Amino acid sequence: MSSVIGVIGGSGLYTLDDNEAAEPTALITPYSDEPVTVFTSNIASHNVVFLPRHGSSHGTPPHRINYRANLHALAECGIDFIIAVNVVGGISAQMSPGTIVIPDQIIDYTWGREHTYFDRLEKPENHIDFTWPYDKSLSKVLAQTTLSLGLPLKSGEPGGVYGCTQGPRLETAAEITRMKNDGCDIVGMTAMPEAALARELGIAYASIALVVNWAAGLTQETIAFGDIASTLDEGMAGIKRVLLATIADL
Ligand code: HPA
Repeated sequence: MSSVIGVIGGSGLYTLDDNEAAEPTALITPYSDEPVTVFTSNIASHNVVFLPRHGSSHGTPPHRINYRANLHALAECGIDFIIAVNVVGGISAQMSPGTIVIPDQIIDYTWGREHTYFDRLEKPENHIDFTWPYDKSLSKVLAQTTLSLGLPLKSGEPGGVYGCTQGPRLETAAEITRMKNDGCDIVGMTAMPEAALARELGIAYASIALVVNWAAGLTQETIAFGDIASTLDEGMAGIKRVLLATIADL
């Protein structure tokens, strides 16, 4: 059966369509005067709606992204589920640069972001269950595809706690020590409130994340984001293969 699949791309993944043939559509939402631009294409007989999280010119930093508008726009496209792509720093020992992680948990350290559609509680269900923030079966499919392509998914299955920080600055060494003590395996800036808004909308959501650096204080070096380009390019090429193969198998 053909599905409508939402893919949210982050740093390093600005299109799923190498031929640039995807159709742009600007969608107005109740959450912004600015339209949200999505790119629609047909892949393996599925309708794929690609949303560049940081905007079509890639310039919106994580704390300024209008997550509510983005997710609302995807919902308007009638998507059946969302695969999100994230770029992260590695905290736990096995999360070395180049590793792929399909996280199964989140700790939210962000603040001040518009993070809910339920600013007025209309029913008890507005308190969404978020015990497991990622869709387990979609995560499993992503993990199986990653492994079948021979790509480096640590532990061979979904798992890992994503600590989401506010950004855009990177963390201090002490913040990373604290996050490690809290149980975070990876650190990024974009998982939240995205994952929670998808749950509020009732849309299954999973993430595939690429580790591009050791988090602050874990090596002797300071973190130069400009220097991670080759890890990012190579890793994202792998993630794109996972996305396309997953879509083809659905
Ligand atoms: N911290 C936060 N976000 C990130 C990092 C990091 O070290 N690397 C990539 N995204």
